[in-house]
Amino acid sequence: MNAIFEVTNLRKAFGGLTVTNDVSLSMAPGDRVALIGPNGAGKTSFVNLVTGNLRPDAGEIHIAGHNVNRIDAIGRVRRGLVRSFQVTRLFQDMTPAEHIGMAVLQRTGRSGRMFGNFLAMRDVMAETEELLGTLGLAGLAHRKVSEIAYGQQRLLEIAVAMALKPKVLLLDEPAAGVPQSDTGRIEQALADLPPDLAVLMIEHDMDLVFRFAKRVVVLAAGTIIFDGSPKDVTQDARVREAYLGSYAHARHAA
Ligand SMILES: Nc1ncnc2c1ncn2[C@@H]1O[C@H](COP(=O)(O)OP(=O)(O)O)[C@@H](O)[C@H]1O
Ligand SMILES: [Mg+2]
Repeated sequence: MNAIFEVTNLRKAFGGLTVTNDVSLSMAPGDRVALIGPNGAGKTSFVNLVTGNLRPDAGEIHIAGHNVNRIDAIGRVRRGLVRSFQVTRLFQDMTPAEHIGMAVLQRTGRSGRMFGNFLAMRDVMAETEELLGTLGLAGLAHRKVSEIAYGQQRLLEIAVAMALKPKVLLLDEPAAGVPQSDTGRIEQALADLPPDLAVLMIEHDMDLVFRFAKRVVVLAAGTIIFDGSPKDVTQDARVREAYLGSYAHARHAA
């Protein structure tokens, strides 16, 4: 397979708790993968490990055929591996245009410039306006993040990620916390992503998963228990058991 992103035998434990148990996963350009699993399964930890936010105990990570184990998080972004966070990490006092402008400057190696100058850089502003327009945020370009709706903040996070021109995009629950009335816009943004981009999305809303994903990977207690088609995932006995087990547990705890 022509892999743009390949993880082999990844392992991580926090004390006695194994959160990533011999995980291997490979993606080709254009893939649309949903990573699902009960709360605490290790989905966010997986993203933290591959992006360089957490150090694995074992395993290898390759981007476009190059081993990146010894490359830091910023270096991995530069090689095309970009993530969004489960909870937004935007700067409340900055505007969408400033967020995108900073990302473009970082990508083009100009982030050392004096902050604010990019508003006068025609190429940066042109790219910023185009990206915000694509995501339906043009009218909010110069508002403070604190003044825009949460659903729009999540769209802005996708825009920031896209400004880094990723080859592989990892989205950690992009619709989490967004009111039902706004999830359609996020779904549209996901549908409009470039066809050759490899996308892995962590998501709990199964309707969204089934509309987005061509392939579903299920993680339970740190282990991949299913990797296959959306059609087959609902029929899989281990998957049913993992979910039923977690629901029973949640009901017990409630
Ligand atoms: N930094 C950490 N230190 C200790 N335990 C952690 C840390 N980060 C996550 N965990 C634990 O690892 C498990 C997996 O968490 P996480 O990857 O966030 O799961 P998911 O995203 O699938 O809900 C959970 O039991 C969580 O409490
Ligand atoms: Mg998570």
